[in-house]
Amino acid sequence: MAAVNDSKPRVLSGIQPSGNLTIGNYLGALKQWVEVQHDYDCFYCVVDLHAITVPQDPAELRQRTRESAAMYIAAGIDPELSTIFVQSHVPAHSELAWMLTCMAPIGWLHRMTQFKDRTAKQTQESIGAGLLNYPSLMAADILLYHADLVPVGDDQNQHLEFTRDLAQRFNHLYGETFTLPTVMNPQAGARIMGLDNPTAKMSKSEASENHAVFLLDDLSRARKKIMRAVTDSHREICFSEEPERAGVNNLLTIYQAISGKSNAAIEAHFAGKGYGDLKRETADCVLSTLEPLQARYYELMNEAGYLDSVLRLGREKASAIADETLKLAQERMGFLAPS
Ligand code: TYM
Repeated sequence: MAAVNDSKPRVLSGIQPSGNLTIGNYLGALKQWVEVQHDYDCFYCVVDLHAITVPQDPAELRQRTRESAAMYIAAGIDPELSTIFVQSHVPAHSELAWMLTCMAPIGWLHRMTQFKDRTAKQTQESIGAGLLNYPSLMAADILLYHADLVPVGDDQNQHLEFTRDLAQRFNHLYGETFTLPTVMNPQAGARIMGLDNPTAKMSKSEASENHAVFLLDDLSRARKKIMRAVTDSHREICFSEEPERAGVNNLLTIYQAISGKSNAAIEAHFAGKGYGDLKRETADCVLSTLEPLQARYYELMNEAGYLDSVLRLGREKASAIADETLKLAQERMGFLAPS
């Protein structure tokens, strides 16, 4: 069995293979994942069970699951340091999710803003129950590994609160079982907005052409999308919370998340320059990230067998921990152990 590193605090996070990954996913999640992997024992999961909360084409889901795993590695996750695995390969996720679903007050679930947003335009008949129960599955993902830290974009913070509340409820009812996780948002890039509509979060499932830069966008196309980003009629280039300046703020945020410079240094750099310069330099930053990432990604997708071996080992390492936690939770809840 694969060795598990017990000496470092643990990290768990995941991305749904429900579309092509965007620079929002990269800056909000993947970039942080790479940064913490030397200091934490990291588990990064392709959350396919979450993806099926809305209908998926089976062949596409299978393909995207592989592509997402390859993208984790291309973005800089080192399979020698971190555990990369597919959620459905470790059945403990579904099993603990059911136990937690039974304990999750329906009122808590109805309060989730992501559930409200995602179901706002649908009829009750067309909403799968999985969309409502989704946070219990996410709680299972995290609690199975006793994760200390969960690096995510800020749209997931409410789900993390829910996870802590549910873990506390379980611990209170059945005795100390789960570790309470802490959320980790990046300093810059916790919420990247749509380039065409900077008051809405950039999303991998939004259909309009100039909304998102995808990690696999052709470089000239990515540049074009940034050059076409919505701005405003002001002149000064500065960070701002004002809704009408959200487009410029978003470009500055992308520039900051990649360059790592301070607000003051960035504002000084752009003093006296125009929006064309801001867009060009932001595009330069984004392309400098995408270029090596894409090269590595295509290399990986062409390397027969490598990805499968990473996922096989990941499954082994993840199962070893998840199965043990599941067993403990089952025991605490009163399930008869098989003889
Ligand atoms: P998902 O697949 O929607 O997004 C994956 C990660 O990308 C971040 N993200 C963003 N960050 C900044 N700006 C954006 N525009 C942006 N869009 C997405 C998300 O915050 C997330 O970190 N429920 C989760 C997946 C999940 C999970 C977990 C995460 C399932 N189980 C356990 C952590 C731990 C989701 O739907 O992410």
